Amino acid sequence: MSGYPVSMQETIKKLEQTRSSRLGQDVPRLSFEGREKLLKECHPDYRKDSIRQISIGPNKGQKLTNKLVDLLEAKSYLDPEKVNLEQVDFDVDVLVIGGGGAGVSAAMIAHEQGANVLLATKLRIGDSNTIMAEGGIAAATQPDDSLERHFLDTIGGGRFENKRDLVSVLVNDAPLIVEWLKDLGCMFDTHPNGDLVVSFAGGHHRKRVHSCKDLSGMEFMRVVRDELYNKGVPVSEFSPAVELLMDEQGNCAGAVLLNLETEEFSVVRAKSVILATGGIGRLHPNDFPTTNHYGATADGLIIAYRGGANLLHMDAIQFHPTGAMWPEQMLGQLITEACRGNGAHLVNKNGEHFINELETRDTVSSAILREVIDRGNGIKTPTGGEGVWLDTPLINIRGDEGKLDRMFAGIVHRFTEYGIDVRKEPIMVFPTQHYQNGGIEIDPEARTSIPGLFAAGECSGGVQGRNRLGGNSLLDIFVFGHRGATSAVNYISSAKVGKLTLQHVREYHRELDAAGIKNKMASPLLLPDYIRDEVKKRRYS
Ligand code: SIN
Repeated sequence: MSGYPVSMQETIKKLEQTRSSRLGQDVPRLSFEGREKLLKECHPDYRKDSIRQISIGPNKGQKLTNKLVDLLEAKSYLDPEKVNLEQVDFDVDVLVIGGGGAGVSAAMIAHEQGANVLLATKLRIGDSNTIMAEGGIAAATQPDDSLERHFLDTIGGGRFENKRDLVSVLVNDAPLIVEWLKDLGCMFDTHPNGDLVVSFAGGHHRKRVHSCKDLSGMEFMRVVRDELYNKGVPVSEFSPAVELLMDEQGNCAGAVLLNLETEEFSVVRAKSVILATGGIGRLHPNDFPTTNHYGATADGLIIAYRGGANLLHMDAIQFHPTGAMWPEQMLGQLITEACRGNGAHLVNKNGEHFINELETRDTVSSAILREVIDRGNGIKTPTGGEGVWLDTPLINIRGDEGKLDRMFAGIVHRFTEYGIDVRKEPIMVFPTQHYQNGGIEIDPEARTSIPGLFAAGECSGGVQGRNRLGGNSLLDIFVFGHRGATSAVNYISSAKVGKLTLQHVREYHRELDAAGIKNKMASPLLLPDYIRDEVKKRRYS
């Protein structure tokens, strides 16, 4: 018995009828011009209401994703007059903000290098986009691959807007990071002879994504979190940073944390700060569902921006082509790109294979949106949703009988819960917000424009250009986590923290007033407020 409603099963029959002919011929790749045209016509970034100009701060006059501008043009969560900066609760060398892969690796490395570290995180250690990443980590480790190829693919995927010095260190460090993870004990997929399994992802012209089933992020997080605990690095959970602290010289000198349980503030004086607060998905850019963790509300961008840090490419949002569309309980959840990398086709309601799966994510998402919205070729759900099929049974047909169970155990399990056997039936998918391609501008040593402030992982910007390739994020977090830690430790050898101040917040508030901006929100948002959003929608519709 199928877990799909009868109306949807009709189109599965069409998909099955075209399977053998589809197997014989690939959809050709788009030309550069063809890709640009498709993106401009169909990618959500190009919708008129997707971006708007920001009126204050370092990016004044530039257009950024709408919902981020709302938060950047809001006053602070805290009243700077009500925080007593004379009472310092923690005094450390390095404050790391964020409990995902970037933050945890940065804290570990800074600790190993002798610094006195505090890691503060909004929820629990590991509650992050890292733990939800499925596909794996990209690195040129194979004989037919090279650092140069990985570099060129990454730049091409980023639509040639990546900061090249950042891409250079990303791809150079990549094989070392895979070795580091292996040495720590991460259980990578291997062939019977012990060689690492590598897969394709869109835009990579070689197989270079190293996986741990479709639970790669969870496996990496399991291991680095354990290391952090074993090393005894102090951790403050349920304690998001609500503002950075500066000293009178304009150097970053710590942060104000909020205890989510008691709602009290605490003051952390730090010689250096590493921001690793992750992404933006829970702002739901363009009102798409998201693959992101509940805490992904752009907090690091907000507090760094108030402190004077520049943002890059924050008009470029990544929509992952294959978010779950059915069952509705899984709406927007990630269906790893590794399914396409291992041979699953995207198919419309007529059983037609309409895009080459190894195009980059921005392109594949746009092709799905064109198929569903412009061409009317989507498959409808009984509750008004629409999507296309991801022909997962092809993975076993093209590989071997056990491949889905072996490499996609998470997906097989999640769908079995809803009566869908993805070995026999396809998965219904639609694009879902997945990643913020940009963020706080950094240099190859993870330095921001604010002395003493470093950034790593998804909250940082420049390395991915306008569109990240699959597998380059689990890489980015560890490359720049390491680099941020080393830079912070070097920096503190000569850093002296002056008197702590929140003057930059007062000045930001004055700028907002001078620009006549009256925004009732307070930021950072910290947690999405779905209930209030629903009430607002009902009231105004
Ligand atoms: C995926 O598995 O498709 C997501 C991993 C990534 O974003 O690199």
